[in-house]
Amino acid sequence: ETKLIKVNPKEPDLECIKIAAGVIRAGGLVAFPTETVYGLGANALDEDAARKIYSAKNRPQDNPLIVHISSHKEVEGLVRNMPPEARILMERFWPGPLTLVLEKSNKVPYSTTGGLDTVAVRMPRHPVALALIKESGVPIAAPSANISGKPSPTTAEDVYEDMAGRVDVILDGGPCEVGVESTVLDLTGDVPVILRPGGITREELEEVIGRVELDAGLLPGQKPKSPGQKYRHYSPKAPMIVVEGPIKAQIKKISEMAKKLSVEGKKVGIMATAQTRMYYKIGYVISVGDRNAPLTISANLFSVLRKFDRMGVDQILAESIPESGLGLAVMNRLRKAAGYNIIKLE
Ligand code: TXA
Ligand code: MG
Repeated sequence: ETKLIKVNPKEPDLECIKIAAGVIRAGGLVAFPTETVYGLGANALDEDAARKIYSAKNRPQDNPLIVHISSHKEVEGLVRNMPPEARILMERFWPGPLTLVLEKSNKVPYSTTGGLDTVAVRMPRHPVALALIKESGVPIAAPSANISGKPSPTTAEDVYEDMAGRVDVILDGGPCEVGVESTVLDLTGDVPVILRPGGITREELEEVIGRVELDAGLLPGQKPKSPGQKYRHYSPKAPMIVVEGPIKAQIKKISEMAKKLSVEGKKVGIMATAQTRMYYKIGYVISVGDRNAPLTISANLFSVLRKFDRMGVDQILAESIPESGLGLAVMNRLRKAAGYNIIKLE
């Protein structure tokens, strides 16, 4: 009984948006496109509606949701106080892929914040998301619209694969532009801390507010220990290994492993890039994007993982990219997808 509704991503048809907004107001679930990934939305101020999100996704109850708004001023009612950096960042990056963690007001139920006294707020820039929030007249709590643990969905087909029968409406606005989730920035401490790297880069943030730290779990060689980060994430069905180090060494290592695995009769998927794909002679090679344009890589990352799932490969071997700019978010997702199964070369 999941209704699939196609919408024009640039100029969403108001009739379609009204149907979906009615579902949100009635306490139902609507999957919708944002510029990052598809979200699974419900009324953020309705405790029962927010709870439905957790069961539809099989999401652990202590993993808090992001509250999506459609105008700057809506943030006022949701938070207890606004540090000066919050205003500066909103002005510069909203609407867009930046989520701010602030102290929550009493209006926001604990079922939305996973029991925390803080709330994560973001104003997305996708016209369909903005129209839906505005027409609903309430802030919309929305995690990524995947079953917990699987790669986030970047097309309505991906959402349908995971959520058919579990949500009331899926708004199909085509593929997402950024492809990895928003940057989550904690503004409740002395120094702003990136809890999750995403669509707005650390460099962009530091340009406007100065020093921004990375959560301890994001530092090189670390596996995250903080509560929301402990779960298996973004995982394809096949086991995955990420190879890091100089690119020539990566290609050599991946080629050797692919050869060995195929001799053993294994179906090997290789995640390469436009610049490197032709060096692989063995395995099912997919280029995730252009090494010189990380946005092309982030945009395709999750859909390539889902493609390997559908191909039924036995093992995925992935190249890595430099961790500057969007590369930080890309490598964060790749390492998690691989369950921190990393080969580091000199
Ligand atoms: O781009 C995005 O952010 C997408 C689209 C749909 O907007 N949403 C998304 O939601 O990625 P989700 O639930 O998959 O990820 C939310 C992240 C989680 O890592 C969660 O732990 C963190 O944000 N988070 C949410 N509220 C928080 C809070 N109060 N304190 C710390 N982390 C929080
Ligand atoms: Mg998610």
